[in-house]
Amino acid sequence: MHIHPLERRWIYVVLAVIGILLLAIFYTAIARNIHPPSHIETIDSASLHLSEEFAEDKLGVWTQPDGTIKVTLVAARYGFYPREIQLPAGTQVTFRIASADVLHGIHIPMTNMGTMVVPGYVSEITTTFPKPGEYPMLCNEYCGLGHDHMWSKVTVVAKESWPAAPNAQPVRR
Ligand code: CUA
Repeated sequence: MHIHPLERRWIYVVLAVIGILLLAIFYTAIARNIHPPSHIETIDSASLHLSEEFAEDKLGVWTQPDGTIKVTLVAARYGFYPREIQLPAGTQVTFRIASADVLHGIHIPMTNMGTMVVPGYVSEITTTFPKPGEYPMLCNEYCGLGHDHMWSKVTVVAKESWPAAPNAQPVRR
């Protein structure tokens, strides 16, 4: 079978592009720990205020017996509650998030912390903040007129000085 040289060249270009895309997927998955969220857990979004985990007084930063941290958040038009949280650097943090109303997205730039928050489901994602700093936590799914203003602040401090800084969200054990 004869293949025109020009066509053959384009076949190589296409194969190279596919190869680069596959490498990018494997690189982000293995080296950067970026995966599609696979956690499936349902919850009644209309009664979060009555739930064991997402009632108002249960939200925030919790230290776990194994030294890791759990953060429970409610996404609701237009904010993530609590609005400000403080976390230590270099520590494994598991976020658990539920929506009280419509579809939201949650994203912290420069980290692997990014997932949709679908009403009726609990979103769970684990990350580690390598260094101290202030990180915005943004909504990245259009959820209404206030979508642009839906963001909260994550302050990451050195492990040694956590949770001593002022205005720290109460840390529960
Ligand atoms: Cu919440 Cu956009």
